Amino acid sequence: MNVNHLDIHIRPMTSLEVRPLRLEVLRAGMVNQTVHFDGDDDPMTIHLGAFDQDQNNVGVSTWMQRPFPLATEHKALQLRGMATAVNVQGQGIGALLLVAGQSHVREIGAHLIWANARDAALNFYNRHGYSTVGEGFIETVTQLPHHKVVKYLMG
Ligand SMILES: CC(C)(COP(=O)(O)OP(=O)(O)OC[C@H]1O[C@@H](n2cnc3c(N)ncnc32)[C@H](O)[C@@H]1OP(=O)(O)O)[C@@H](O)C(=O)NCCC(=O)NCCS
Repeated sequence: MNVNHLDIHIRPMTSLEVRPLRLEVLRAGMVNQTVHFDGDDDPMTIHLGAFDQDQNNVGVSTWMQRPFPLATEHKALQLRGMATAVNVQGQGIGALLLVAGQSHVREIGAHLIWANARDAALNFYNRHGYSTVGEGFIETVTQLPHHKVVKYLMG
């Protein structure tokens, strides 16, 4: 399925609304089907979703105010639960969510975004200005190899 970027809009979602796509994309074939994250309902957390013309939810992302463990002096947001519906991956929806999240980060006066990124998604993050830092690790819920990625926003 092809999507037209002009037909995609990004809007805030609730923590309950993001769960179905998290489950479908981030927990497919996994033993651990947990889709609730510690911090999901924190008042400073926002969930940004992408919707197509028919109001189908085609992408989700969660932005939590949390210090980056390797540079705790900065006001920082952790990006979590980044997922695009399988049938529309690779068409720029993830990029739209990163742009929207980055705007939010700037709005609240933070200058650093970080994530525990699946190794399979490192190219995606690197292309959007995120640097891979530190040693790789196996994330406990997914049991998949991950690295930390970080992006410092200028100005
Ligand atoms: C990783 C993920 C969130 C990225 O979202 P996405 O909507 O597929 O992202 P984009 O389409 O913006 O970019 C993905 C790739 O498609 C390419 N792309 C972007 N727009 C494109 C277009 N119009 N046509 C073709 N390819 C395009 C990008 O170059 C990028 O390639 P890269 O991976 O080599 O960098 C998504 O693929 C996904 O949900 N994957 C499975 C779950 C996952 O790994 N989540 C991340 C956990 S940390």
